[in-house]
Amino acid sequence: MLSFGVKLLALAALGGNAAYAQTFQRLGTCPTLGCVFPPDQADFMPGQVFDVRVEIHAPLNGSEAFNNGAPDEKFSLTIQRVGDRAGPKLARDFWKCPEPGLEKWTFNYFEDLFAQDAKTPTVVNVASKAYRQVALYTPGEYIATVHYYNTQKTVAHWTVRKPTTPRRKAKNVLFFIGDGMTISMQTAARLIAHKSVNGKYQSLLQLDQMDNLGHQMTHSIDSFITDSANSATALNTGHKSSVNALNVYADSSPDPQDDPKVETLAEMFRRVKNGLIGIVTTAFVADATPAAIVAHTRDRDQAGPIIDTFLRGEQNYSWPGVRGVDVLFGGGAENFLPGAASFEGKDYYAEFAKAGYSVVHDNAGLQKIDKRKKALGIFSVSNMAKWVDRKVKTQNLKGQQNSPTGDKTDALDQPGLKEMTLKAIDILHARSKADKNQGWYLMSEAASIGEYKMMHVLDYHRALGELLELDDAVRASIAHLKKLGIYDDTLIVVTADHGHGFDVFGGVDTQYLHTAASDRQKRGAVGNYINSGLSGYTVAPGTAPTNNTVVIGAQGANFPVQWDPRYSLAAGVVAFPDHRENYTTAPNGPRLPAVKGQNGEGYVPNPADAQDGFGLTGTLPTNAAQGVHSLTDVAVYANGPGSEAFRGVYNNVDIFFKMADALGLATYKNTTSSGHWH
Ligand SMILES: *[C@@H]1O[C@H](CO)[C@@H](O)[C@H](O)[C@H]1NC(C)=O
Ligand SMILES: *[C@@H]1O[C@H](CO)[C@@H](O)[C@H](O)[C@H]1NC(C)=O
Ligand SMILES: *[C@@H]1O[C@H](CO)[C@@H](O)[C@H](O)[C@H]1NC(C)=O
Ligand SMILES: *[C@@H]1O[C@H](CO)[C@@H](O)[C@H](O)[C@H]1NC(C)=O
Ligand SMILES: *[C@@H]1O[C@H](CO)[C@@H](O)[C@H](O)[C@H]1NC(C)=O
Repeated sequence: MLSFGVKLLALAALGGNAAYAQTFQRLGTCPTLGCVFPPDQADFMPGQVFDVRVEIHAPLNGSEAFNNGAPDEKFSLTIQRVGDRAGPKLARDFWKCPEPGLEKWTFNYFEDLFAQDAKTPTVVNVASKAYRQVALYTPGEYIATVHYYNTQKTVAHWTVRKPTTPRRKAKNVLFFIGDGMTISMQTAARLIAHKSVNGKYQSLLQLDQMDNLGHQMTHSIDSFITDSANSATALNTGHKSSVNALNVYADSSPDPQDDPKVETLAEMFRRVKNGLIGIVTTAFVADATPAAIVAHTRDRDQAGPIIDTFLRGEQNYSWPGVRGVDVLFGGGAENFLPGAASFEGKDYYAEFAKAGYSVVHDNAGLQKIDKRKKALGIFSVSNMAKWVDRKVKTQNLKGQQNSPTGDKTDALDQPGLKEMTLKAIDILHARSKADKNQGWYLMSEAASIGEYKMMHVLDYHRALGELLELDDAVRASIAHLKKLGIYDDTLIVVTADHGHGFDVFGGVDTQYLHTAASDRQKRGAVGNYINSGLSGYTVAPGTAPTNNTVVIGAQGANFPVQWDPRYSLAAGVVAFPDHRENYTTAPNGPRLPAVKGQNGEGYVPNPADAQDGFGLTGTLPTNAAQGVHSLTDVAVYANGPGSEAFRGVYNNVDIFFKMADALGLATYKNTTSSGHWH
């Protein structure tokens, strides 16, 4: 420990040298001038396909200026399996592949906030090579070494993990992601939806009743707060990545499609077992979490190419890929309708239909869908409506002009996460039965708990509604799998991709808050400890809260009886813009807490939001319109074959390895198998 401390001090002594800046990196994972991707600490499934990129940097100016900005073009990469007598081999000999061509480019970055304010970027020239589609088949330790500038070396230690079990345990994997979901949100959702008597719950969340519980660390490769793209990369590939990157290591080249790729769970499952792939989300389907099932791009905003990847796989780098996912349900019609937001302006409904998909646009169509065909269901423009608006404040569905057909009518008949997930299971099950009984992988995302979406805009009530809908979808899926007779063959995993710093600290008398005169008096409406009281959400309006009957509201069991009780929750997040708070469910649809100020002063409280509430001074830079993700670990729940592996505390990448192990995806030589189950 002591020597570690001394090392840190030695680094600190160099402080002021911007090269050591923590938050403005030249390139994540590459503190030296020679970079290799995958970088040090990367882990692989045996046989997992990946690209390797080497970059040599020559900063032209700035604190690291080197060699007059001329990058070494005679660098080499060697690979060695630890324990192999042969010693290190040049990468092309190790993989018996042709030597890749030399690529060159230039990029700029700011070394710190002062350089950013002064608009003095550092210019870096780069020489690079990419070895595409290689794999390591033998479990063990490997050393990749870049040799450059004659004497310099960058060393990466790689591990090919030995699967924990030689046999495939699960036929199917049903993977639920609650975007941004944390334990404190689950606690709040339980409180508003499940009645408790004298401190004892009379019913529980489905998540409370899962067989195995663990938790995962979500940090990304080059920053401790992750976004949904890089955490989805970790969950889908077992490799950590950077903000905005999907299933690639972020290189420094300007092309968002040429970064070194890593094969995803879905791609391996399709390649090795001929497995079927389904994707369900309440977001637009090109969004990071659904895209991460098959897409490979540095830039999560490449919606057009992402949609094309769902249909055809990666085209330009003949990456093995998943060509044609079996089920794709969610929002995001703008990326399918012909026009500026669709790939090459094409009509992607027509492209999918030509490829044999059923195409549906509302819940009625979804319920009638042919289970034997591949299916595309796009139910709205942009993200789908929130549960609270679909089920409680239904007037908010009107006037949205978000019909997925693009005819500017309202998308009034949108299915929920539960309807989409159950139908996706039906289709995958029927197609698997009709084919080789090879099994399926379905990712189902409750997207609007966190992402953009309700926690970001401080709309705590809608976020909790989305969480309860996820819980309801998990509950219904378990029952459905049992009915189909495949529950015992199906690994179910429920987790989040990251958290938001949300919690509840008391109750609020919204009537008192509404009538109080000043901001300081309004804060008196917040009751803590004994004055937090009991949940007003599980009590039917007008009845005494001591009535022990579990009241079931119009939305069914496991949801609140009412969303606008007089006594609501005092809730908040750690990261927010200036805004006002009145602790009620925003009546007219998702909340907009802050708007751009008039005099260039950044974001200020939205005058139309929580007018009768009190003001809170933001914790974020003034250019932030909404909240951001936070550091917390998130929970993992699992049932079914292979689920015991999900107990304990581990990294987000481990979830990939646990699911891949359960599906038996390791391959020990370059072959594909026919993939029968059993
Ligand atoms: C580096 O050079 C570029 C122009 O070549 C200039 O714009 C930039 O300000 C310089 N950066 C630094 C840190 O000196
Ligand atoms: C597997 O073999 C095929 C055909 O020989 C080759 O094209 C491909 O690059 C190999 N893939 C890997 C990951 O070694
Ligand atoms: C493939 O590359 C071509 C040529 O650069 C480009 O026009 C096209 O958009 C790329 N396709 C995808 C799916 O990115
Ligand atoms: C409790 O309240 C429910 C409805 O709110 C009512 O139907 C029921 O009769 C009440 N039970 C008792 C014991 O008062
Ligand atoms: C809270 O503010 C909303 C506007 O955002 C308003 O419609 C609602 O009536 C307010 N709630 C109370 C209890 O006054």
